[in-house]
Amino acid sequence: MTFSIRPLDAVSRPFFGGEVSGIDITRKLTGEEATSIEKGMDHYGVLVFHGQHFDDETQLAYSRNFGMLEEASGDLNWGKARRIESALVNDISNLDNDNQVLARDNRKRLFSLGNRLWHSDSSFKEVPAKYSLLSARKIPAAGGNTEFADMRAGYDTLDDETKAEIENLVCEHSQLYSRALLGFDDFSEEDRVRFKPVLQRLVRRHPSTGRKSLYLASHAGAIVGWPVPEARALLRDLIEHATQRKFVYAHEWKQWDLVMWDNRATMHRARPFDPKEVRDMHRTTVGCELSTMAEAA
Ligand code: OGA
Ligand code: MN
Repeated sequence: MTFSIRPLDAVSRPFFGGEVSGIDITRKLTGEEATSIEKGMDHYGVLVFHGQHFDDETQLAYSRNFGMLEEASGDLNWGKARRIESALVNDISNLDNDNQVLARDNRKRLFSLGNRLWHSDSSFKEVPAKYSLLSARKIPAAGGNTEFADMRAGYDTLDDETKAEIENLVCEHSQLYSRALLGFDDFSEEDRVRFKPVLQRLVRRHPSTGRKSLYLASHAGAIVGWPVPEARALLRDLIEHATQRKFVYAHEWKQWDLVMWDNRATMHRARPFDPKEVRDMHRTTVGCELSTMAEAA
């Protein structure tokens, strides 16, 4: 079988979400293969690969084709004993360090529910994420989809006045803001320092395609120079606009799927599932080269 990418929804969203076939990405890629995948990412924003039997080592090796990897320092348990050995692998599971399902009121679980809000990975870091790569090691029998929204389409379909109004706005992003939306405030003083807000432009231009997109996330809690309630009202309106169903692809996981997305051009969110079942996903993250402020300058 030869390498190919087909749109997941050729009728409604031919440019958003692609399904890749004809390649085993658990093996070492040729430079040409890595380039084809990167081109596919520029076009589709999200790529789905089925039947990829990754362990952490092979997932890290695959991810390194696309740039420098980020540390999983956005984890609540960063710096403490973790379930996953590699500091470059994010634990996107509902499991404790002994691989047991977390209790409903467990702090790590409640913090991780922040993933159910629309976001772009690591927008709370000064230099945020380029690609995220999520490998489904174990999935629940039902539910637990991940939804993706096309932020290029979100930007393109704004009216001209709104585009002009937001062109040069700068937002403050922090995990403290996104968790506050869910009423989670169980942070230590140390967490509060670690999660102090960073600045991100609200409109960004993709370095490869030149396309503009809305750079939004539930981590955004303020706009520089704006009163907070007015900023949050605008951010809410923009998120509502950009996540209309027509801009959204909902991924129904199969075990051993690997989904990669471009955080510069998309937002995503997790959907609920039975909290007694195991959902074990491992995420690697490729960093951007620059902050969005430096990128624009
Ligand atoms: C992530 C994330 C969503 C999910 O891995 O960054 O937000 O469905 N995951 O687990
Ligand atoms: Mn995420």
